[in-house]
Amino acid sequence: MQVFDTVSALRKFLATHRAASKRIGLVPTMGYLHAGHISLVHAARQECDLVVMSIFVNPKQFGPQEDFATYPRDMEGDLRQAHEAGVDVVFAPVVEEMYPPDFLTEVSVRELTAPLCGASRPGHFNGVTTVVAKLFNIVGPDRAYFGQKDYQQVLVIRKMATDLHMPLEVITCPTVREPDGLAMSSRNAYLSPAERQAALVLWRALRLAEEHLAQGERQGARLAATLRDFIAQEPLARIDYVAVCDPNTLREVEQLSGTVLVALAVYLGQTRLIDNAILRIGD
Ligand code: PAJ
Repeated sequence: MQVFDTVSALRKFLATHRAASKRIGLVPTMGYLHAGHISLVHAARQECDLVVMSIFVNPKQFGPQEDFATYPRDMEGDLRQAHEAGVDVVFAPVVEEMYPPDFLTEVSVRELTAPLCGASRPGHFNGVTTVVAKLFNIVGPDRAYFGQKDYQQVLVIRKMATDLHMPLEVITCPTVREPDGLAMSSRNAYLSPAERQAALVLWRALRLAEEHLAQGERQGARLAATLRDFIAQEPLARIDYVAVCDPNTLREVEQLSGTVLVALAVYLGQTRLIDNAILRIGD
């Protein structure tokens, strides 16, 4: 496995592979790898000749009050896991390599970034699209792999790639969960044992949504209210948002039909966790 920390060295290396028509897969991450990240590597490994993983905690996608400084980091462990999973190339730049002092450009997707995480994390998605556009330009992948756990993120990135004619396929991979249902996340490391137990409320709320839909619930607002009441019963949980919306536009839907996105963001103490499910409405 090759590890690069500069754009120029990585590009030089990738140029020879591109010349040999190798299919390049990119897995962008912020490190502190877990089985969710590794599932993206496995998907890339199956479909591509060369798998590139980026490991970069991107300061531009963190708000001033957010956890950039304390975001968990473990480069040694990450490199070991990446190697074991079959990553060919790791790109792990320092902040100055990605954002030199004279950096001025921002990539921004409108509308899709307004609701859900965009509403509670102003500027977050501009940081994501800016860094992902840079990674796409640096690596030139044929395919880039993202997790459904961050549903809005992959929707926004897909829109950016389409709108800007980026010549690659954006692939969404299923959410990987702990045995008890909690979605894997680097931020789970922040949870105390009691918060870890209480965090199951997200998964349980998604299952409850499924049950209510199976029992005939067709009112989006009523379903959202049911889920809010359910989460509110967990004393350690504080709701950021509960949304029942259209999976393509992210607009809230009143009359439920077809498929619906149920998206949740919940604080356990200081830790904000997200999860979602795409649910099919039976006839
Ligand atoms: P990070 O949170 O490290 O996640 C990297 C990728 O792993 C994302 O595509 C995310 O959706 C996926 N992922 C995280 N948890 C997952 C899980 N439980 N199951 C499946 N996939 C999971 O998302 C980011 O980093 C950043 O915003 C990034 C795209 C790298 C831009 O900085």
